[in-house]
Amino acid sequence: MTFTCNMENTDKKTILSGIQPTGVSFTLGNFLGAIRCWAQMQEEYNCLTFIADLHAITIRQEPSLFRKQIFDCFTLLLACGMDPEKSALFVQSQVHAHAELAWVLGCYTQFGELSRMTQFKDKSTKYPENINSGLFTYPILQAADILLYQPHYVPVGEDQKQHLELARNIAVRFNHNHGDVFTIPAPYISKSGGKINSLADPSKKMSKSDQNINAYISILDPPEVIIKKFKRAVTDSENKIVFKDDIEKRGINNLITIYSLSTGNSISDIENEFANNGYGDFKLAVGEAVVELLRPIREKFEIYNKDKAYIQECQQKGAEKAAALAARTLRKVYRKVGLR
Ligand code: TYM
Repeated sequence: MTFTCNMENTDKKTILSGIQPTGVSFTLGNFLGAIRCWAQMQEEYNCLTFIADLHAITIRQEPSLFRKQIFDCFTLLLACGMDPEKSALFVQSQVHAHAELAWVLGCYTQFGELSRMTQFKDKSTKYPENINSGLFTYPILQAADILLYQPHYVPVGEDQKQHLELARNIAVRFNHNHGDVFTIPAPYISKSGGKINSLADPSKKMSKSDQNINAYISILDPPEVIIKKFKRAVTDSENKIVFKDDIEKRGINNLITIYSLSTGNSISDIENEFANNGYGDFKLAVGEAVVELLRPIREKFEIYNKDKAYIQECQQKGAEKAAALAARTLRKVYRKVGLR
């Protein structure tokens, strides 16, 4: 298979998105909240999408497993509809400018700003035995990922809004000192899928780093596992399928959101459809809808997985394309700060 990747269309605005290769695959939250939107945006925008492997080593990874995860997650992006002909798809560590710009931007970021990041607070509570400085400076690397490519928009879920805000502040500060170097990126948050919650504790977001495997659906989970996880999903005791702004209803609201995003049905249609059913029936229906939603992805993943040479070629071409774009910004930054 051969392909070209046309990123030269200047009429289109640019969007940039990244995802960590933690765990064996992405979650349903990643798919509904992020990847599906990225895939849909490829027609309208110049898209850059990368596997954020440098971010993932803030948590200890087993090297050979990690290498496979990076490869599989890249493959999964293609299976989810990311098209290397339309987008620049790459692995972060293959483009050296990310780490280089991160150092420079670190010198334009205040300690206090990083201390306020909620993700740092959460992760240092979760991994008290390894509060490394990478965990603390993580948002600077994320700012570098973004600002290198001068994107107009960064599509993220609710959880990444604070990091994006910091990237914008760093860019404004740098521009203030050195003239207009960076485009100030705007967040692009999908209305309904901005936050898909855990099935085991609906007060938390669905996350692949959750210790409880029943808390999340992995895109590559087999159908029977998906159904089982939905059957176990935490709800309340009311047994009425209605979407209410009430913390007690967070579990059922989450299931209604997932069903709505999986089937395209509106929330009121869903409430009518299940007016005479209890949670047991509804959980099964949600599970079945998600199985159907993910089936073509699993099938495409199996096909792509057989052509490792093609995936490698995609990674190589995507990295070359991204590196060329990133080098332009990095050169400008070095010149502005007086580096040779
Ligand atoms: P990550 O890998 O946690 O998630 C990737 C994308 O999926 C979204 N997301 C969700 N959306 C809805 N519901 C959920 N439960 C859910 N979980 C995750 C995230 O908001 C994100 O859009 N730090 C980033 C990766 C990154 C990045 C970047 C993103 C590194 N550099 C530059 C954008 C721009 C992260 O850990 O995402």
